[in-house]
Amino acid sequence: MSDKPLPTDLELTALDPIFREHPHDRLDWLRTEDPVYLEAALGRLFLTRFEDMRAVLADRSLSRDPRKAPDTPRRRALMGDMPPEAFEPSMLSLDDPDHKRLRGLVSQAFNQRSVDSWRPRIRAIAEALLRALTDRGSFDVIAEFAAPLPIIVIAEMLGVDPADMPQFKRWSDARAQIFNPVRSPEQTVELRAAGQGLNDYFARAIDTRHGRCGDDLISMLVAAEETGNRLSAREIIVTCNLLLIAGNLTTTDLIGNGVLALLRHPDQLAKLCAHPELMPNAVEEMLRYDPPVVQTGRFPLEPREIAGRKVHAGQTMTCSLLAAGHDPARHSNPHDFDIERADTTHLAFGGGAHYCLGAPLARAEAQIAIATLFERFPRLRLVPQHAVEHKRAPSFNGLEALWVHAV
Ligand code: HEM
Repeated sequence: MSDKPLPTDLELTALDPIFREHPHDRLDWLRTEDPVYLEAALGRLFLTRFEDMRAVLADRSLSRDPRKAPDTPRRRALMGDMPPEAFEPSMLSLDDPDHKRLRGLVSQAFNQRSVDSWRPRIRAIAEALLRALTDRGSFDVIAEFAAPLPIIVIAEMLGVDPADMPQFKRWSDARAQIFNPVRSPEQTVELRAAGQGLNDYFARAIDTRHGRCGDDLISMLVAAEETGNRLSAREIIVTCNLLLIAGNLTTTDLIGNGVLALLRHPDQLAKLCAHPELMPNAVEEMLRYDPPVVQTGRFPLEPREIAGRKVHAGQTMTCSLLAAGHDPARHSNPHDFDIERADTTHLAFGGGAHYCLGAPLARAEAQIAIATLFERFPRLRLVPQHAVEHKRAPSFNGLEALWVHAV
């Protein structure tokens, strides 16, 4: 091993300014020097090889339920400092059989067929957002387009009344602070109020649907509750919150990171404009090249060996999804952005039992959003005075703002 000092936990997240700008310097180095790296402060293993991560994510005997992990500060942070009996896990923090039951109840709404039926509506929402920007000259792609689009789509899928949409959007925006570890005390107050507001809103929505179900997502969950499908009202609320939290910021970041990659690679943008049929592959390449979720984890319930290393029961294995897409053992020239890449296999949506439920929706939204943006504004370019600034969230990778000239 070289005598370069090993990075600390913090230095492997976007909280560190150098990592934020150039994550692959450290990730490539770790992959070569210590691909199953023990981070001293958190005691977790940090994985940087594609194949190791694919195997860990696919392994259904590994857990994601923090209540089964040893009582550490990290576990308490994951559980919002709640005692285990007060913690209300979503499917993301459950193992089977509860995980399977909850996921099974909503999975139909997110399958390819359902998502395809939403495509015309997603396009209409994207076009309406862009129409409002027509005479603006320059604008922030994130605030004006990439952020509102997924919120409006999921709100409509859930069946939020159009009259409630402005309030719903305000709550969803405030909830985004949940991933900001350096939020101000005022933002924390707003975050809590928004959480309460959304919970009350969903509770009322559930009440109004009893006996009067429509074809929206909340109705679907209420119908499952009524047919005795072992789903409580509380679980419906937790699931609705998960859909908002898991789907909005991530899709915003995919659109933002994708638009930035195209603007920084004008040859790729020109190719995409000339061959719009390349869009699905281009979005997969965006997910590989600059994924919105940079890490996810699993831990074993019994001691075992993984990737040649002994792992204790409860010891987290952190999969660096950012490193996975840039492993030269999997992809040639991994740091190149190539929308025609033949093998775009990535782990940006995780894997195994918890593979992202919203992947078809996220793909559809990103494909439509990016296509409509460049169709309406073919001369789009970065505003040079505005530096591109990355978010400071440890598990997420996106932009605070993306200022463009449209004319
Ligand atoms: C580009 C956008 C998105 C990315 C990069 C993304 C990424 C991920 C990742 C990495 C996981 C965890 C997988 C694991 O640990 O194996 C996940 C889980 C999940 N995602 Fe997404 N996601 C995106 C969009 C969405 C959308 C639009 C929705 C729904 C509206 C959604 C709903 C979920 C749900 C419900 C889970 C938990 C699945 C389970 O535990 O079984 N995601 N996502």
